[in-house]
Amino acid sequence: DRTLNLAVIPGDGIGPEVVAQGLKVLEAVLPQDVKLETHEYDLGARRWHATGETLPDAELERLKEHDAILLGAIGDPGVPSGILERGLLLKLRFAFDHFVNLRPSRLFPNTDSPLAGRPDIDFVVVREGTEGPYVGNGGSIRTGTPQEVANEVSVNTAFGVERVVRDAYERARARTAKKLTLVHKNNVLVHAGHLWKNTFDRVGQEYPEVSTDYLHVDAATIFLVTDPARFDVIVTDNLFGDIITDLAAAVSGGIGLAASGNINPDREFPSMFEPVHGSAPDIAGSGKADPTATVLSVALLLRHLGFEAEAARIDEAVTADLAERAGTTRSTQETGDALAARVAG
Ligand code: IPM
Ligand code: MN
Repeated sequence: DRTLNLAVIPGDGIGPEVVAQGLKVLEAVLPQDVKLETHEYDLGARRWHATGETLPDAELERLKEHDAILLGAIGDPGVPSGILERGLLLKLRFAFDHFVNLRPSRLFPNTDSPLAGRPDIDFVVVREGTEGPYVGNGGSIRTGTPQEVANEVSVNTAFGVERVVRDAYERARARTAKKLTLVHKNNVLVHAGHLWKNTFDRVGQEYPEVSTDYLHVDAATIFLVTDPARFDVIVTDNLFGDIITDLAAAVSGGIGLAASGNINPDREFPSMFEPVHGSAPDIAGSGKADPTATVLSVALLLRHLGFEAEAARIDEAVTADLAERAGTTRSTQETGDALAARVAG
């Protein structure tokens, strides 16, 4: 028998509620001969309030031993901004070299997307996950004075850019449309922009089947709303990717449906899968959270580990469920039950 050894970080707010449903669907879809072993990690705001710890080194070491990580959501209003983001979420992405932050967008049926009725949204953003302005390479002097100078330097290495661009070409080549768009701002950020564009063009020569396009990030936000069908695979840096994937989520069905994978394609470290939404403390405990984004993140997890058929079953179940649930009010658990029943049956 095979074993799927999964680390689970339920986290804060609605995190534990949506993760419970994600695990339920995972149990239901896994083949009989695969044994699911889960190990829960108490990380997030609760832990920080209780102990002042965000991610102790010993926990990081233990997390390394798993096949993958499923994360619910991190953060609450009582924790100063930046502590859990840097000390936990980004620490995990950096420590486990999650250089591909994969965020697919499909237009699901019966959502309140402003683009509802347009059947042509089906693209995936490959967001760089370990560099850019996220690395914390900055500082300020004369802090708190009228003469304060604050720098936040975007780090872009030839190695880091090439590996994520290459991954995006691979993904584009495997898709039907085979189109890759680089999103940057190389008319202003000329140094980083030059590295990205040159790398994009050079690596592209190895992928003659893939057609390419370049857009400045501001223009890309227009087309994501007015002409999303032009996109197939998008590759972009960490910060641009953060911003455009929220926009992509909004136009393709809402943040309640947006899934993501923080992927280490080399499989040297476990990849981590999480809904794009946050901990939503305002609805925590009310049973109102939609677990669908977590369930779709479980599909990405399965696909990464080679369970393509099971991942596809989850995607189909979500599409069918969204078509059927239209107009009804569902609890978190009811949606989890409905999806588990569909993937099992
Ligand atoms: C996301 C989030 C994170 C990010 C924050 C919470 C650090 O917005 O996953 O998109 O900026 O990457
Ligand atoms: Mn974000």
